[in-house]
Amino acid sequence: MLRLNDHWYIAAPRRELSSEPIRRNVEGEVLVLFRDETGTARALRDRCAHRGMALSEGRVVDGTIECPYHGWRYDGAGDLVEVPALCPGECPPQGRRMQSFSVVEQDDHLWVWIGSGEPTSGPYHFTHYGDPGWRSFFMNTRFEATVEDCLENFLDVPHTIFVHPGLFRRGELAPTRARVTRESDTVVAEFLNEAPLQGWGPRLVFPKGTVMRHTDRFILPSITRVDYSFGEEYGFVITSQCTQREESVVDVTTAITWRLPRSIPMLSTFLRWYCRRVIRQDVDMLRVQGQQHALFGRAFTHTEADLLGRHIARLRRRSAEGLVEDKKTVEEVQLRI
Ligand code: FES
Ligand SMILES: [Fe+2]
Repeated sequence: MLRLNDHWYIAAPRRELSSEPIRRNVEGEVLVLFRDETGTARALRDRCAHRGMALSEGRVVDGTIECPYHGWRYDGAGDLVEVPALCPGECPPQGRRMQSFSVVEQDDHLWVWIGSGEPTSGPYHFTHYGDPGWRSFFMNTRFEATVEDCLENFLDVPHTIFVHPGLFRRGELAPTRARVTRESDTVVAEFLNEAPLQGWGPRLVFPKGTVMRHTDRFILPSITRVDYSFGEEYGFVITSQCTQREESVVDVTTAITWRLPRSIPMLSTFLRWYCRRVIRQDVDMLRVQGQQHALFGRAFTHTEADLLGRHIARLRRRSAEGLVEDKKTVEEVQLRI
């Protein structure tokens, strides 16, 4: 399992953490999350120093997490503050600090810093989430796949006509040019002369007869962003963040965000149904792909039309090795979509 350290990952939607502790796997770390006496979200490794019990099976007492086995209590920094079986005057064992992880609540989610040391920046901000004039909702989806297969899928255009027939592309494939630019922590595909989307979702939302701008973007460590815009007034952004729970189990948080010059009745309801349907089709496809990889291995054949997968794999591999990809590359390719 490839792990990219020193990044923020979503551990859970904010609403999942109330007064009870919760356990979440994040990129190979098993965490207990709880709220301290000020309501601030805290994260510790979910293992009691005494006999290894899961703290998440315990409860929160005065802002500390209490182990369910013998009642040892830890504060939000991971310090052992109480050993109930000791007599007054006896000190709890010193130096029994549990590993703690920085937590930030942003854009309605709990983000955890996975890595060594203190965070060097804040979590990723979902593009246009909360901006005036923009509307959004989130979807949380579990994929039985690797992070890389998810990331490639979210930014892969050629599969759409096969996996999502009629939903956002239909008719003849048309030659299209794309410019792919890779930098140190991102790779972007700009589609230079793409015909406007034709499926019934886009037809409802987007105007006819205007030029469509479309970009697909990967951002380290595990974020994708797809932008469609028509002039200044129409914008649609789909941002997805991947958190690896365990080998080939990935939870994806997707923000669907849009801006239109007029309101369309029931649009939000329609979009939820429509996007859920699209994502389900990808979940099913990636589940089978994962089973195939388990059986036959991951030997791939690349073509020019596989715009971003190789770049995503390269940036992630370099990052996992603690290296920065410093060579910017730009290439223009032709494909039929
Ligand atoms: S195992 Fe946690 S207090 Fe004993
Ligand atoms: Fe898809």
